[in-house]
Amino acid sequence: MTTKFPDTFDYAGFNAPMRVECDIYDLVIEGNLPKEIDGVWYRTVPDPQYPPMLGHDTYLSGDGMISAFKFEDGHIDFKMRYVMTDRVKAERKARRGLFGLYRNPYTDDPSVRGINRCVNNTTPVFHGGRLLALKEDGLAVELDPHTLETKGVFNYGGKLRSQTMTAHTRLDEDSGDLYFFGYEASGLATRDVSYCVANREGQLVKEEWFQVPYVSLMHDFAVTKEHAIFPVFPTTADLGRIKAGGVHWVCDPDLDTYVGIMPRDGGVKDMHWFRRPACSAFHFMNAYTEGKFVHLDFGVSKFAPFPFIQEASHIHPTPEDMRSGRVVRWTFDMSKPGEKFEEYNLAPAGDFPRIAMDDHMKDYSIGYYERFDPEAGPPLVAGPVGAGFNTLSRLEVKSGKLKSWHSNRPVTIQEEVHIPSKIPGHEGYLALVADLHDTQLSDVLVFEAEHLDKGPIATAHLPLRLRNQVHGNWVTAEELF
Ligand SMILES: [Fe+2]
Repeated sequence: MTTKFPDTFDYAGFNAPMRVECDIYDLVIEGNLPKEIDGVWYRTVPDPQYPPMLGHDTYLSGDGMISAFKFEDGHIDFKMRYVMTDRVKAERKARRGLFGLYRNPYTDDPSVRGINRCVNNTTPVFHGGRLLALKEDGLAVELDPHTLETKGVFNYGGKLRSQTMTAHTRLDEDSGDLYFFGYEASGLATRDVSYCVANREGQLVKEEWFQVPYVSLMHDFAVTKEHAIFPVFPTTADLGRIKAGGVHWVCDPDLDTYVGIMPRDGGVKDMHWFRRPACSAFHFMNAYTEGKFVHLDFGVSKFAPFPFIQEASHIHPTPEDMRSGRVVRWTFDMSKPGEKFEEYNLAPAGDFPRIAMDDHMKDYSIGYYERFDPEAGPPLVAGPVGAGFNTLSRLEVKSGKLKSWHSNRPVTIQEEVHIPSKIPGHEGYLALVADLHDTQLSDVLVFEAEHLDKGPIATAHLPLRLRNQVHGNWVTAEELF
């Protein structure tokens, strides 16, 4: 390879591509790693095999790299492999980048026209005995959960009509049903959205389609025991712009935000639309139905946080805009016709919300998320937004009480994962990858979730730097073996 990666934050410092597939048996561990932690923590990371063909691109275009931390008997083994997509295979064959702008096939090298260009770099989901690597602009790729070897594109045995599948699925722990959707379901920049359910065995048992008011970057959705919730924020796509070689996404603050809510086990014909002025959100902490009310908790901001979208939208957030983000609860009264709903402040701004699996879709007490706290240190480059988070927080949702932890070293933290405990009354554990900016190496930190403010109870040292994951998920040993 003779081309260099661009000299931009997407490819520099902690964001420098790694391109390493490896196995490390028995990581060096300091502290006390509880032996009851037994399972595998899968993570998906964008890690470009080649520099972008056009000389620039976003972090989010990086080829999917899947990694697995296997926790067993107080030890951790590590494995990392590329998701061998058609895109990686084509670029390896040509020994260069062949793909153009983010989610714009009209800017690709003619030699890869028509090829599946999805990078499957966002979320690893284990369901129905299958490990899937997901990204929202294409179909899942199935991987071997033990070897991480790529098996190929997975579309529920040809049953799934949707051309896309969200990276944010929602599992009902009680039934084992996996709820998901796909936007731009009938092709690039289409308003069609699919709403799907796969049963415990991983068979597709429902697929209905509906249309959203405009093409929107619908990154996540939420499901309660009774409702499915589809927020539509005004980061929009236009086929004409894409065909002309333009960017896929532009923020349009003149458009309203919409929220579609339907009976989750009913039909899309019963979708009720609420609306409010423009805003942005990427991840939802939890949602639940309480009588006639539907509650949705998450971090909201004024604009999409990604610099490549802000630049394309000619948006230059002011310090006031940056400070306006917060964690909120939106409460929808399903008994009142109309488009209005209530908003309540819960906590300071942040993202990467996680909760215990048992709490999903139900009234709950505790949420975990990450924040950037200027008092914990200056901004450090890590991940697709630019500055990484530096503070892990535990929010008591009902009281707003916050416990937080940050390192005293120059450290940014990647998304935390919650690991359940079998000890009655125990809140479980949180694990995350910490980016050590002074050594350019990575550690795995394990916390007691209830006492995260006391710092990690165990630290596993890696002899290399791990690029920032998009998302990860915990799979218990019982589920896997
Ligand atoms: Fe996400």
